[in-house]
Amino acid sequence: MEKIIKMKILRALILTLSFIIPISSFAAGNSDQKIPKHEWSFTGLTGTFDKSAIQRGYKVYREVCSGCHSMNLLYYRDLIDIGFSEDQIKAIASDYTVIDGPNDEGEMFERSAKPADRFVSPYANDQEARISNNGSYPPDLSVIVKARKNGADYLYNLLLGYDEPPQGFELSEGMYYNKWYEGHQIAMAQPLDDEYVDYDDGTENTLPQLAEDVVTFLAWSAEPELEVRKNMGIKVILFFLITGLLFYLMKVRLWKDVS
Ligand code: HEC
Repeated sequence: MEKIIKMKILRALILTLSFIIPISSFAAGNSDQKIPKHEWSFTGLTGTFDKSAIQRGYKVYREVCSGCHSMNLLYYRDLIDIGFSEDQIKAIASDYTVIDGPNDEGEMFERSAKPADRFVSPYANDQEARISNNGSYPPDLSVIVKARKNGADYLYNLLLGYDEPPQGFELSEGMYYNKWYEGHQIAMAQPLDDEYVDYDDGTENTLPQLAEDVVTFLAWSAEPELEVRKNMGIKVILFFLITGLLFYLMKVRLWKDVS
């Protein structure tokens, strides 16, 4: 009798695990073997975002990438999620200028940005963006991690993937060789290198660290609700485990006299 119960518990466990394992490997991501995988703090079933890494990544975006790339889906007030205070956010926003209006005289006017404004774009319009980049368009980065296959791993490798072109490779004018970009030539010059951005928290500012942090920031921006969703997922699994156990105990009790 005891043996049967043990077997049943084992079976229930295997069944539960067979549900959990695919979920966690799905959350971790991808089947494409070509792009090397990087260890991220935010993947996997229990993955959460490391707020100091996102804040550092935001600094990299602000000081480097935002010179060419917009992030139209973000508002300054969203930075509250990554640990900035309201006063810090007001100060960050006030560094930017937005065009508002029309005022009572029917004219547009400039004012400094507020927490309720969207991230200010580097260019007034797409044409200006292209003209400033040799005809190529620097895409908006708000959800770029979602827009590319294995987004986080791809972006990380892209940022580290600049190199001399191999012998015989014909690089077009104004293009740069990158191992991971489709066709291996990209119109973006290598944007990051060792020590390009200074960190205030003592973290080493090597190229791989800067790249990891900015990609962490971009992964957060692509799904700021990630942490909420993961916490929900774990609660749901616990709920099923506990109700499953209760039903099992109930069944054992009800059938006790019969068997
Ligand atoms: C001097 C301008 C400039 C800066 C600074 C810059 N980029 Fe770019 N970026 C571009 C341009 C132009 C393209 C389009 C490339 C193309 O079409 O070949 C691009 C493309 C990209 C892409 C798309 C790649 C793809 O698969 O389509 C990503 C991702 C990207 N940049 C990320 C970044 C990040 C992250 C930073 C900051 C660390 C950054 N960029 C800084 C100009 C810039």
